[in-house]
Amino acid sequence: MWRLIVACLLFGTLGAVDRQNFKTCDQSGFCKRHRAVTSPTGYEVVSDSIKINDTGLHALIKNKDTTLKVTIVTLHDSTVRVVIDENEGALKNRYQPLEAVKKTKEEATTTKILTTDGNRVVLQHKPFRVDFYVKDKIVSSINAKETLHFEAFKKKVLLTDREKGFWEETWKDIKDTKPHGSSSVGVDIAFVGAKHVFGIPEHAESYSLRDTRNYEPYRLYNLDVFEYETNSPMALYGSIPYLVGVHQKRSVGALWLNAAETWVDIEPTTADKGGLTKEVLDADTKPRQVPQHNARFYSESGLIDVFITLGPQPNDIFRQLAALTGVTPLPPAFALGYHQSRWNYKDQKDVKEVHDGFVKNDIPLDVLWLDIEHTDNKAYFTFDKDAFAKPEEMIKDLADQNRKLVTIVDPHIKKDSKYYIYKEAKKNKFLVKDAKDAIYEGNCWPGDSTYIDFLNPKARKWWSEQFAFDKYKGTSKDVHIWNDMNEPSVFNGPEITMHKDAKHYDGFEHRDVHNVYGFHQHSSTFDGLKARSNNEVRPFVLSRSFFAGSQRTAAVWTGDNKADWAHLKQSIPMLLSLSTAGLPFVGADVGGFFGNPDEELLVRWYQAGAFQPFFRGHSHQDTKRREPWLFAENTTSAIRNAIKTRYAFLPYWYTLFYEHAKTGKPVMRPFWMEFIEDEPSWDEDRQWMVGSGLLVKPVLEEKVKELSIYLPGKRQVWYDWHTHKARPSPGAVQIPAELNTIGLYQRGGTIIPKLSEVKLTTKDNHEQPITLYIAVNQKGDFANGTIYLDDGESYSYEKGDFAYWGFTFKREHDYLHTITNQNLDKKGKFDSDVYIDKIVIRGAKFYPRNAHIFLDDFSPEDLDFEFNRDNFVMEIANPGAFVTREFRIDLHS
Ligand code: GLC
Repeated sequence: MWRLIVACLLFGTLGAVDRQNFKTCDQSGFCKRHRAVTSPTGYEVVSDSIKINDTGLHALIKNKDTTLKVTIVTLHDSTVRVVIDENEGALKNRYQPLEAVKKTKEEATTTKILTTDGNRVVLQHKPFRVDFYVKDKIVSSINAKETLHFEAFKKKVLLTDREKGFWEETWKDIKDTKPHGSSSVGVDIAFVGAKHVFGIPEHAESYSLRDTRNYEPYRLYNLDVFEYETNSPMALYGSIPYLVGVHQKRSVGALWLNAAETWVDIEPTTADKGGLTKEVLDADTKPRQVPQHNARFYSESGLIDVFITLGPQPNDIFRQLAALTGVTPLPPAFALGYHQSRWNYKDQKDVKEVHDGFVKNDIPLDVLWLDIEHTDNKAYFTFDKDAFAKPEEMIKDLADQNRKLVTIVDPHIKKDSKYYIYKEAKKNKFLVKDAKDAIYEGNCWPGDSTYIDFLNPKARKWWSEQFAFDKYKGTSKDVHIWNDMNEPSVFNGPEITMHKDAKHYDGFEHRDVHNVYGFHQHSSTFDGLKARSNNEVRPFVLSRSFFAGSQRTAAVWTGDNKADWAHLKQSIPMLLSLSTAGLPFVGADVGGFFGNPDEELLVRWYQAGAFQPFFRGHSHQDTKRREPWLFAENTTSAIRNAIKTRYAFLPYWYTLFYEHAKTGKPVMRPFWMEFIEDEPSWDEDRQWMVGSGLLVKPVLEEKVKELSIYLPGKRQVWYDWHTHKARPSPGAVQIPAELNTIGLYQRGGTIIPKLSEVKLTTKDNHEQPITLYIAVNQKGDFANGTIYLDDGESYSYEKGDFAYWGFTFKREHDYLHTITNQNLDKKGKFDSDVYIDKIVIRGAKFYPRNAHIFLDDFSPEDLDFEFNRDNFVMEIANPGAFVTREFRIDLHS
């Protein structure tokens, strides 16, 4: 019967999501109970309970039913942690997903333990409240609305009807036995002064979080949602319980470290409503005029463990989040190229033909992907004996042409006594158990399946060993991995996932750890890929499910979207929201997973995807084949252009990923991060920045003649990438929306390195010459930029085999402008042969008479150049400069 349901799920008509499969807040016992809390829950600090020692402030708080303990700890870099747990004697431990956070450094604290970097944390006693101040201004507060609600574990006694939901719940005939009863937690967090709040992915929603008062709260519960809708707060595949309240001068982030099902209500308000009127009030502020956002978090179990990062500027916010949950380490260069996938490439011949099609059609490609059908009857870590009889040959063939293969490895394990993975996992007791302690069974792609208990550290280690070349037969270092269905997806489970009373390692129930399940799968996959090459080759892992910290080991895509314009548009806020929550390596299936895009949509999707971090075309097995050459010539050529444009910007992308690892700043950036002075631009979700220099606006509408682009910032200058035409900001421009149009502007004051000519793989482009695009700032006197280079695949950059250089354009005086390069990190010893074969200066507001270059020997050589007086563009051909050897170019006017 499940087969039938699965089949219906898969092949049913392409409609909207079946909402009936998923709970609303009202159908989730704890969410309903928390949302119903509208009057103060009455917690107060117990007098004489406050203790301050070198680990922080400890106090007891209490209302008429419950006593809790509160710990407030100041951490490094303007970050404060507030933990609320049951007091001694709790019947059970609560799960804390500490794996999501890096080891946090506690600040050496003295008597003023609540003061970090001039910021203040104030514990209010009656009612209980924790306020956060940045330089005397209140910026955030926990429990200002007094909604703290904490269900302590209790002994099961005779149940009244009212208590029933507390001890068991049934959803669509599936009973959740709740053997330990309810243990939910929730509280409100205020973002004082915040005009917008962003984050808490993953939802197919607008970038700026909306008012949920008359709407469903945002749900964080990793789910496999078939045909998800756009503009919906429904839960999707992954969860990062982090949001940021944005303010011109004092932005604040909050990480809610809890891995259980969580709902978040958002209430935009003003500071006079709620408990903070007095705190906000000063001589020139009227609380009525201070915007505020309250976020209420409710989690089904676990404890209240909140990290507040006090910014105050966007860069600080990203650095502070990175210190908590980590960064994406530098990916292998190939992973930034174009990926071609489909469910499924049928056999080795198909793989070869698709590969050769890219070469023949002069379209760059780095990776081919194999979906579930490549396995021996859905037994992961194997190849189908007929269709993929000689995987070594296929992989070598790809590798010889500088291309990689990605294979899929899901967490459900086919229940088959002949399958070695199943046998070993069972023997070692590495499988999740059900409520009655038998091996948990569910239905997924292989039919009857069991699930690895990734919460068990030994199971994780064993899993990672399965990627060794002698275990995963046929693979080599040129094979990387895709972890899918890891929410986990259970076709016959409640809400298509695992039963909440299933049992994991160390006495925790699935309900406690649900949102970190996928995190542990992709993390151990990453560890395995690293270990199989003796830590020499950088792994690439794509995961569908994720949690805070996932960025350390995986890239993520937005799952099963649809080939329509709404989903193309939706991908932008979804990717911005992931980037905001600290996960930068993200993308959406280009072209849409379900359905067949028409040629115009397909082209537009390639154009958008070319400027998003993870760039992969992928589609469902029922869709028509859509390799780029299967269309009209102008379509193929527009797709070729988009992919080539991606490759041309690879030096810039690679540099941005390197810089992300150093600073935590995402590569795909929301406008508020770059233009905090331009408030109306903060919630933009049709355009974005790649780094700080490149503004992107793809065409997102069908058959439009014009594309309008907003140019953010104050007193900035922007240059049209192609025409060099300069425009002031803030402002808007309209450009003709031809088939090859991607709205692309370079920000004045930046220098962007771009390949002068593109070859068909990242490896072939590794030493290609570069054109430097210098966009002079509004004052006409300055621009700078960076470039990062290394071998693109190994870890030797960690030992100094890298080059990180800067470029500077400067007006020295009325008659002299210079272009120079500087080694920004002297530890880098990578000597590259990459040279600059062209320099384009946009906004050159001077009349150059001559130009020469000083190289090592400091005897100048004359340079050829052209100068266009109409648009102030100067082009220098073949300056003869190497990126990683010092030079100076003098431009005399
Ligand atoms: C899931 C994935 C999709 C994949 C399919 C088959 O639906 O999201 O990308 O193609 O499973 O493995």
